[in-house]
Amino acid sequence: RAEGLKDYYRDYFPIGVAVKPSDLRSDEKSLILTHFSSITAENAMKMGPIHPFEKKYFWQIADSIVQFGLDHKLKIRGHCLVWHGQTPRWLFKDSTGNQVNKEVLLSRIKDHINTVVSRYRGKIYAWDVVNEAIADDSSTYRKSQLYQIAREEFIEQAFRYAHAADPKAVLFYNDYNTENPIKREKIYTMLKKLLAKGVPIHGVGLQAHWSVNNPSRSELEKSIELFSSLGLQIQFTELDISVFQGRQGGQLITGEKSLDKTAFTPEMEQQQLEKYKMVFEVFRKYKKHITGVTFWNLSDRYSWLDGRGRKNFPLLFDTDLQPKKAYYEVTRF
Ligand code: XIL
Repeated sequence: RAEGLKDYYRDYFPIGVAVKPSDLRSDEKSLILTHFSSITAENAMKMGPIHPFEKKYFWQIADSIVQFGLDHKLKIRGHCLVWHGQTPRWLFKDSTGNQVNKEVLLSRIKDHINTVVSRYRGKIYAWDVVNEAIADDSSTYRKSQLYQIAREEFIEQAFRYAHAADPKAVLFYNDYNTENPIKREKIYTMLKKLLAKGVPIHGVGLQAHWSVNNPSRSELEKSIELFSSLGLQIQFTELDISVFQGRQGGQLITGEKSLDKTAFTPEMEQQQLEKYKMVFEVFRKYKKHITGVTFWNLSDRYSWLDGRGRKNFPLLFDTDLQPKKAYYEVTRF
């Protein structure tokens, strides 16, 4: 079998990909098996999809993804246990439709985490326990319903519940915009406090939803150095490099509106391959601290960034599942 991305990075870190069920039974399957040594469920393990009603779990898709990982000896990351997004409606409401109090919310979160983590104990090696709890604005914590009801206590408790359910699982705090100096500092301060309290947290997941303009090499290196100074391992958990998003001179770059693959211009291709080259240089430089790099989707045929009438082309494989120029940049070292 041809050498794939994972083979180039054998001495560095596992290379992962976020998958949806159809990827596992189509042309995408062989691309996954050639290039990746780790998988994450793109949506199937989030609380809304897997636990839609208080007494009802929907295991089918998550189970099939885990089984695929086991069958092909892939590492499996779990994503995610507590997040403000894709939460089921029942979580915050009692039977009369009123908002629950902190004790009820925490006990529901505990049941959820215990049930999901226990089911996959020994199969899923790492969990994104808390996702995106830090705010992008001037406040420290995101003002989600989770926060409004339980303040920051839900963060600490989520890690304790997960650790109790699987003491061997590697537990991550996961977030985006982690190269922004202000947000980075807030995340660092939170993690430091949690660690000082003895909260079982082992790693920080940097989502890495990046663009051709962002991040810079120096901000990326600063984030890796700052978080690893806490003794935490680092994983890039949701890597993609958008050709549209980002700002130049304060102007949001909106890009083409076309769905046609020719909308991926040679200029975009060049900017994107330079960014991919740079970030993988940095990943290799810090291999001591980095224990995984996962792409958020497989190829430009489908990306969660597509939509609103345009494609994005953020990945290393094109709409025909062929390696792009950026692929050759990250495998030449
Ligand atoms: C995204 C999925 O890719 C989409 O299919 C879904 O509609 C929304 O969620 N940060 C995360 C991921 O932690 O869970 C998100 O995944 C992307 C942003």
